[in-house]
Amino acid sequence: MKRYKLKSPGIVYSGSDSLDNIREILKYGVEKVAVFSDKSIIKAGLVDLVLAKLDDAGIKYEVIDDLPAEPSCDQAQAVVDTFKETEADLIVAVGGGSVMDIAKLASVLSTDDYNVRDLLENPGLAKKQVRTLMIPTTAGTGSEATPNSIVLVPEKELKVGIVSEEMIADYVILDAVTIKNLPRTIAASTGVDALAHAIECYTSKKANPFSDMYALESLALILGNIEKACDDPEAVEAKEAMMVASFYAGVAIAAAGTTAVHALSYPLGGKYHIPHGVSNAMMLVPVMRFNEPMCRSRFAAVYDRVKPGDNKVTEEEKSEWLVNRLGEIVENLEIPTKLSSYGVPKEDLEVLVSSGMEVKRLLDNNMREIKAEDARALYLQLMQ
Ligand SMILES: NC(=O)c1ccc[n+]([C@@H]2O[C@H](COP(=O)([O-])OP(=O)(O)OC[C@H]3O[C@@H](n4cnc5c(N)ncnc54)[C@H](O)[C@@H]3O)[C@@H](O)[C@H]2O)c1
Ligand SMILES: [Zn+2]
Repeated sequence: MKRYKLKSPGIVYSGSDSLDNIREILKYGVEKVAVFSDKSIIKAGLVDLVLAKLDDAGIKYEVIDDLPAEPSCDQAQAVVDTFKETEADLIVAVGGGSVMDIAKLASVLSTDDYNVRDLLENPGLAKKQVRTLMIPTTAGTGSEATPNSIVLVPEKELKVGIVSEEMIADYVILDAVTIKNLPRTIAASTGVDALAHAIECYTSKKANPFSDMYALESLALILGNIEKACDDPEAVEAKEAMMVASFYAGVAIAAAGTTAVHALSYPLGGKYHIPHGVSNAMMLVPVMRFNEPMCRSRFAAVYDRVKPGDNKVTEEEKSEWLVNRLGEIVENLEIPTKLSSYGVPKEDLEVLVSSGMEVKRLLDNNMREIKAEDARALYLQLMQ
């Protein structure tokens, strides 16, 4: 029998008004809170919702309000240095993956013994020093559930994942109020990121019964709700479904790991600063079509999960349906799929190929082997 492992956040609160649970969390011996967020999230009024709860509880807090989107390792270090001065004993991250990823690093870096760049070299150094509460405002990266923190390494022009179980959140609150007014373009690309996590984990070489359960349920929720959640500001149930689905997909990442979509999209973020969700949306269909012969029974199982009892359809047709549905979602949500929209010149093809092939950690999880010539053909599809 194979062995597998799952480490997930300590306590997860979900459902309407679940932000009210902040009060309960503060009872676990918290004296001072550091709130991490960024300007757009503050403008959207989401940090005020959290601060009102802290004020009610009479707890001391400081707000670090200017976290950068898709941070470099040095930007993350600068936030960590500011954080150290607060001497807080709970970090509350109110934000998308960018904010949560920096909060996770800060939670293991209140020491001067090692820094972010040391963790890039040796994530084994990480030791949790400060507890974290993650309140995601996108649905999303699933960072609230994963042991990963993704930072840009400028000299490599590549995004790199620092992975340590020490960074897994202690508390998570999934309250769809945080995505109620999320702008459609952000809802769309972050939603497709969650979709990519779920289908990649479900077809990862490291897939196992734990990751399968979360990935398949996540897929069912996303395939049934993503367009409604993005298009209709009043669709509370669809947004709640996306919030839970992105968390599930994050749990699946913790148990299994993403594959070639994320591997080949990292240079697109690293070199051209294409937002993480958009770069994954670009790669999603080309990679899944490439993988299809090796993933057919798994793709068909997704069809069976969302359309149970349909016995007249062959496995091949079921699998084809899924690949087409992924393409339909990216199209319906009007996410750009051509690299020319981001000014990427065709001459950069070889740089992309060699950069993408460096992300061995994730390419190794892909069910179908990707050689440099395959990566070249996949990037070329985004250039036509
Ligand atoms: N740690 C992980 O497991 C993991 C997984 C996937 C991606 N990531 C990383 O997460 C980052 C991307 O995170 P993201 O996709 O959540 O986007 P993000 O956190 O970068 O946010 C994108 C933009 O949306 C704004 N925003 C977020 N929520 C908002 C809201 N509710 N209302 C208004 N504006 C809002 C932000 O201010 C920002 O400008 C990337 O660096 C990516 O590499 C991490
Ligand atoms: Zn992702």
